[in-house]
Amino acid sequence: MVSRILMLLVVSSLLNLIHNGVAEGVTSAFIRSEWPSVDIPLDHQVFKVPNGYNAPQQVHITQGDYDGKAVIISWVTADEPGSSQVQYGLSEGKYDFNAKGTFKNYTFYDYKSGYIHECLIDGLEYDTKYYYEIGDADSTRKFWFQTPPGIDPDAPYKFGIIGDLGQTFNSLSTMEHYMQGGGQAVLFVGDLSYADRYKYNDVGVRWDSWGRFVEQSTAYQPWIWCAGNHEIEYMPYMGEATPFKSYLQRYPTPYAASKSSNPLWYAIRRASAHIIVLSSYSPFVKYTPQWRWLAEEFKRVDRKKTPWLIVLMHVPIYNSNEAHFMEGESMRVVYESWFVKYKVDVIFAGHVHAYERSYRISNIHYYVSIGDAYPVPDKSAPVYITVGDGGNQEGLAGRFRDPQPEYSAFREASYGHSTLEIKNRMHALYHWNRNDDGKKVATDSFILHNQYWGTSHRRRRRNLRRNISVLCDFKQAS
Ligand SMILES: [Fe+2]
Repeated sequence: MVSRILMLLVVSSLLNLIHNGVAEGVTSAFIRSEWPSVDIPLDHQVFKVPNGYNAPQQVHITQGDYDGKAVIISWVTADEPGSSQVQYGLSEGKYDFNAKGTFKNYTFYDYKSGYIHECLIDGLEYDTKYYYEIGDADSTRKFWFQTPPGIDPDAPYKFGIIGDLGQTFNSLSTMEHYMQGGGQAVLFVGDLSYADRYKYNDVGVRWDSWGRFVEQSTAYQPWIWCAGNHEIEYMPYMGEATPFKSYLQRYPTPYAASKSSNPLWYAIRRASAHIIVLSSYSPFVKYTPQWRWLAEEFKRVDRKKTPWLIVLMHVPIYNSNEAHFMEGESMRVVYESWFVKYKVDVIFAGHVHAYERSYRISNIHYYVSIGDAYPVPDKSAPVYITVGDGGNQEGLAGRFRDPQPEYSAFREASYGHSTLEIKNRMHALYHWNRNDDGKKVATDSFILHNQYWGTSHRRRRRNLRRNISVLCDFKQAS
């Protein structure tokens, strides 16, 4: 009798979790004490200027072409221009190749930047470790990076996803946690330094400190950049009104390789993934350059070569947090039908300082006067993931809307980062990793089934089953 009651209780709990065929979402009640949301003092060792006169600092790399055989290396020298040359090769200290870059500087109010170097090295071999050296005389510095496997539908690859990082002790915790996890490249979903929280010359100073802070990762693996609102820096009160000025000077992207006309939106292919980067704060409605480019880029996606189609943007399209609620609606109206048509696997965004994951849903049948205005389950739709919880000085967005919408699968206001570990053309392992938990502890995780190969596979299995049953009927009849 007792066991029967227990069984009924279990079944009733399971039924409560299932609603309209979709498991109900989880709002995590987890609360962890955090460090104060203030920036790390400038004299802290994470911002240390490297030893030596005019030594290269703020070293960072990003993919330099469409397919992963090139790298753009950027760094800053503070005292004088110095050399823009990169020496590189297959073993440490033995450099068979060199490439010559360029340098520039810029002003922001009375702040004068250091000399910003940029050097493209291309024609690299896939899946190879390269060592490189930059700087002059006795102030040279050495680093290394690993090129990705060639474009191949089954090439495994592990991406990290970080957003809204800033430069607090919570940001440092996110960085350390990410670096323990074995990610091979970072998909960065916007809001880098939060230098715009400062005024006058301190804006430039805090871009410099952030560049030194992230160098521990950015000098060794590519970070794929996407711009957020904190990169806009519209500050007319100090005579600075050119949007994205500091960001564009400091963080180059390989936009021309994907036929984009603007560094703020572009695409790359890496291993088995096709990654599209969008700009939430550039014109995107019909007929704008970004809209025209995206229309063409979606046509260039070849799921037979790169099965995994990933989109990055700063403002989330589906967000049930009070913070930035509905800010992604205008982009949803313009682009959501394409995301469904082209079966995007997953869309990563930041902006909201919390974590949230959606079920596969879409709202593409609603027009201003007809249709159901509520999102519905849609197998062709992407999973939407907000991971704007890198740990900047604005703190966490702790107020989720109540009740949790049916499309929201999991949400929690904690700092952390995500990883997407592509195993083959069919499966990828996804984890959201809350800071301060052990590196092997994931708070939210699931297996992502590829939208192209997964569905074709299901279709093939269905056809096979149908053919077998036809064969059986034929045998019975004969
Ligand atoms: Fe933001």
